[in-house]
Amino acid sequence: MKLPFKTLDDVEYEGKRVLIRVDINCSLDPETKKIINDSRIRAMTPTLEELKKSKVVLMAHQGRPGSDDFISLEQHTRILRDLGFNASFVDDIFGKAAKDAISKLKIGEILVLQNVRMFEGEMKKASVDEVAQEPIVQELYSLFDLFVNDAFGAAHRSQASIVGFTKYLPSVAGRVMEKEVRTLTEILSTEYHPWILVLGGSKVPDKVKIIKRLLEIGRADNVLLGGLIGNLFLIAAEKISSQYGAPIKEFEDILPLAKELLSQYSDVIMLPIDAAVDQDGARIECSLENIGGRPFYDIGPKTAEKFAKIIRNAKVAFANGPMGFFEKDEFKHGTVEVLKAISDCDCITVVGGGHVSAMAEQMSLVDTITHISTGGGATMGFMTGEKLPLVEALEVAAKRME
Ligand code: 3PG
Repeated sequence: MKLPFKTLDDVEYEGKRVLIRVDINCSLDPETKKIINDSRIRAMTPTLEELKKSKVVLMAHQGRPGSDDFISLEQHTRILRDLGFNASFVDDIFGKAAKDAISKLKIGEILVLQNVRMFEGEMKKASVDEVAQEPIVQELYSLFDLFVNDAFGAAHRSQASIVGFTKYLPSVAGRVMEKEVRTLTEILSTEYHPWILVLGGSKVPDKVKIIKRLLEIGRADNVLLGGLIGNLFLIAAEKISSQYGAPIKEFEDILPLAKELLSQYSDVIMLPIDAAVDQDGARIECSLENIGGRPFYDIGPKTAEKFAKIIRNAKVAFANGPMGFFEKDEFKHGTVEVLKAISDCDCITVVGGGHVSAMAEQMSLVDTITHISTGGGATMGFMTGEKLPLVEALEVAAKRME
């Protein structure tokens, strides 16, 4: 498959000064602020391995200003060191301390800059031309020979550190970016059927868009729904009342579209047929009719069995989002069963979204799944057919490099 951008295979990087933008935005323990899932850091190490004979500066974000997980990248640097990289951290992004440290870098060394979102201008989303004028780009680009962008997880953000440098530097995709775009493009264009879409969790508006698109283009043969999105479709189908866990007010605008999709694709969209509800902290399994006002926190065992059977007969399965409130042990059964079926099935399997990917790791299923996507919003944007700003910027840079 021909990629729309250039990769590390197309450029010389030995001995060069290379700026890499990665997505190592990790889940943290809310109390201790310790990284609890470093899979995004481990995922991008192949790119760093290849650049071991270059002088590497690493740029990344963690959280968003004001959020609980908005922290320094010092901990991420320690993890890189534990993974065997010669990495050091500078508490600066484009000031004197950062520039001095960049100028002293030796081959084989990696310098991690401070969280780019500590610079206010990074949060601005605008065209490449506009964000390229931000000081983060203007102060740094001339210090490098090459820009490698490996931040697939942030590819849907047109921000300075993501797309700005592509205006000035030869720019290529890193190995994470390359693998994600290749695999997701292949899974969207494969001729294999049955092609099963399994969606759970929240981010309801984005997920409804994926359902609509993949049904309209005839890609998905079945859509299996759980989690909040499943609840919403059950409400649209008038199988449960809005009091059972879906904060329906937020999604009122989406209900008509959910109803329309259900009427058009009634034999394709599979909704939960039973439930697991919370009664005083305990898991109680019941029919949809007997929920009786208790929070609907997981798909029931009959649904899990039905979904697992469909997945085991698939040729392609794409899953994003948990089937229930999996953070509570009592309510992770549905998600566990779906993941087991994905791992057992002799087909192409792609799992996306931080929660389910982390759970696949905890269950040691990573080796049995074709591809675990590092993206959340970016993966969903890609699946809805959206042209991601980073892909677009790398495409333009590739043309300029020819
Ligand atoms: C993610 O975790 O999805 C990416 O790192 C992007 O983060 P953002 O949604 O805060 O831009």
